[in-house]
Amino acid sequence: MRFAPSGPLRGTYVPPADKSLSHRAAILAAIGGDPVRIRNYLRAEDADSTLGAIQQLGALVERRDGELIVRGAGARGALGADGVIDVGNAGTLMRLLPGWLAGQAGGSWTFDGDASIRRRPVDRIAVPLREMGAGIEATDGRFPPFTVRGASLRAIEYALPVASAQVKSCVLLAGLTAAGRTTVVEPAPSRDHTERLLLAAGASVERAATRVSVTGHDELELPDLTIPGDPSSAAFIVAAGVLVRGSRLVVEGMGANWTRTGFFRILERMGGIVVGPLEPENAPLTGDEPITELDVTAGPLVATTVEPAEVPLAIDELPLVALLGVFADGETVVRGAQELRVKESDRIATVVDGLAALGAAIEATEDGFVVTGTGRLRGGTIHSHGDHRLAMLGAVAGLASEEGVEVAGMEAAAVSYPGFEDDVQALLVP
Ligand code: S3P
Repeated sequence: MRFAPSGPLRGTYVPPADKSLSHRAAILAAIGGDPVRIRNYLRAEDADSTLGAIQQLGALVERRDGELIVRGAGARGALGADGVIDVGNAGTLMRLLPGWLAGQAGGSWTFDGDASIRRRPVDRIAVPLREMGAGIEATDGRFPPFTVRGASLRAIEYALPVASAQVKSCVLLAGLTAAGRTTVVEPAPSRDHTERLLLAAGASVERAATRVSVTGHDELELPDLTIPGDPSSAAFIVAAGVLVRGSRLVVEGMGANWTRTGFFRILERMGGIVVGPLEPENAPLTGDEPITELDVTAGPLVATTVEPAEVPLAIDELPLVALLGVFADGETVVRGAQELRVKESDRIATVVDGLAALGAAIEATEDGFVVTGTGRLRGGTIHSHGDHRLAMLGAVAGLASEEGVEVAGMEAAAVSYPGFEDDVQALLVP
């Protein structure tokens, strides 16, 4: 699929539903007992994988008038899955669901997924789940396919070696069926959707700085909810609006949770004109997910340095920081982002090689990259490597380029954002 250099993007834009929140809403509804209505559940491959998995475990899922109604299996009521649980490309599903299943004494479940999932480590969840008493057997000790054997769990205090919302969420979900109080300590804050939903569902969750605790609680009652627009998906369109001269976009209904909006703070620092309220950093934990409206216009950019503590708050948008860096005055540096190497692709290698092939002056480091702003991007061909965010990065690069970009493997975008090309098309001024 080719993305030609474009004229301005103008108009009102409503991003697709949040992927992280969709996974969590479905999983927590499955852990509960009463029916939960979920409005604006994401329609994309990853979110479909989660619905498939919870149904295999005994939840009932109906679509009615565009809403989902999920009737859960109960915290200790997961069925023995008929066959392997196929997570497709969804790392979040693969890391969260075992947290629930680990506490089902006597049960055993095997997880597998696509070729990219088979390269993604699961030892990061195996270590704490084993410490709580569950059994995990993984391929070569750390990859899918892997098997979870449920047990009566004990509460632990676990210090995460790297900030990861997926691992934190896994341990907190296991804490629901454990006796006592389970605590996770993070090196830096990561997205907190699980904590917010658990609070909203009546669990006792406390956060003090980077410590989060949950007490065993097996009667979750998730209220009906509406999933906000995904800031990570919106970031691609916003970046296009900032880069293509003459653009003006109003972004409606986007999630503004401070643990998800690091990219927008980085963008503002670079001079990108994004106006609209975001939740203040370090806002206290509540059961709500704020939403916002942004007004975005194109303008000149200056380089910035993204420090390690900001990385978890912008992890999926860092490829866009690389692209913005190409058009920013000075040297843009991202540090402390070695986690990018274990995403849907090795995103340090794929972003650096991909943008360099389009004419960018960018170099990889062990834990990030350095981009020298040249103010222009020639264009050419970029490969998605089956990574949705790489595919969309290539598309935005094409709009901002001189000669256009051919994205090989554009279909990968369907993992999180099946309507991406249509949304871009609708905003382009003819
Ligand atoms: C996610 C957390 C992040 C992120 C992923 C979604 C989540 O991963 O990269 O796309 O929904 O919890 P890590 O928690 O492993 O950093």
